[in-house]
Amino acid sequence: MKVTVVGAGAVGASCAEYIAMKNFASEVVLVDIKEGFAEGKAMDLMQCASLNGFDTKITGSTSDYSKTAGSDVAVITSGIPRKPGMTREELIGINAGIVKSVSTSLLEHSPNVIIIVVSNPMDTMAYLVHKTTGLPKNRIIGMGGALDSARFKYRLSEALACPTSDVDGMVIAAHSDKGMLPLTRMATRNGVPVSNFLSEERLNQVAEDTKVGGATLTGLLGTSAWYAPGAAVSTIVQAIACDQKKMIPCSVMLDGEYGLKDICMGAPVIIGKGGVEKIVEIELTAAEKAKLMDSAEAVRTVNGML
Ligand code: 2OP
Repeated sequence: MKVTVVGAGAVGASCAEYIAMKNFASEVVLVDIKEGFAEGKAMDLMQCASLNGFDTKITGSTSDYSKTAGSDVAVITSGIPRKPGMTREELIGINAGIVKSVSTSLLEHSPNVIIIVVSNPMDTMAYLVHKTTGLPKNRIIGMGGALDSARFKYRLSEALACPTSDVDGMVIAAHSDKGMLPLTRMATRNGVPVSNFLSEERLNQVAEDTKVGGATLTGLLGTSAWYAPGAAVSTIVQAIACDQKKMIPCSVMLDGEYGLKDICMGAPVIIGKGGVEKIVEIELTAAEKAKLMDSAEAVRTVNGML
């Protein structure tokens, strides 16, 4: 499998590193506009090959999309990251133009590509890629829920004082500080609902900490996070590469599911070689549905700024 990662910054390089280390891709091409930057990151990563035991070939390209030709999957991480105190939505002015141009360039050289969108505001950027490329909706995937769910599981394991591998949970709706919907009602510890172990108040705190997981890290790091976003992307790419039929919450174009149309929002989807192979409609309570609708309204407002 050939994978292109556009943007050789911290997130893009982490994507490339985790994809390579999982050894399911034959090639990863890193692309950046900064002269030599992608080539340097690729070379540094390739020098880990003998140490980290992968055979994936990682190369770099400065703005030359011919090097990406024939990619099966392309990840768009390019654009500016948040600074402390910023919302993801505030990035739209600069990132929209970049994402539009990048998706066009990708498609010129890889007509069959599946595109994974990371750049923020991610739900709106995924929507923009649909409108820009006209690709079938199964071939555009917004990466948000996979990251948010990982943060949810982290916060659950922290509250439960148990290994993260003991917990499961999912976050749907928008990838935004206010619009995220951690499904606390469905979260489990080894199959047991977490409400058996945590009070409603503590569970609400877990949900709130999850929603601002990105902003918390931006406050600590001075910029957006990169390890967990990179790892989250690599799970989606692997599910495509290995046709895993894995259920992962991703931002996808809805066409009636959850009562929503013409909007990209985080929903549980089955990911396999075809990209989004099925959108899973789970039963939500009235309160959860109301939060989902509020989240969708906020995304539509940002979409309207395109
Ligand atoms: C995050 O939440 C970059 O949006 C991404 O860290």
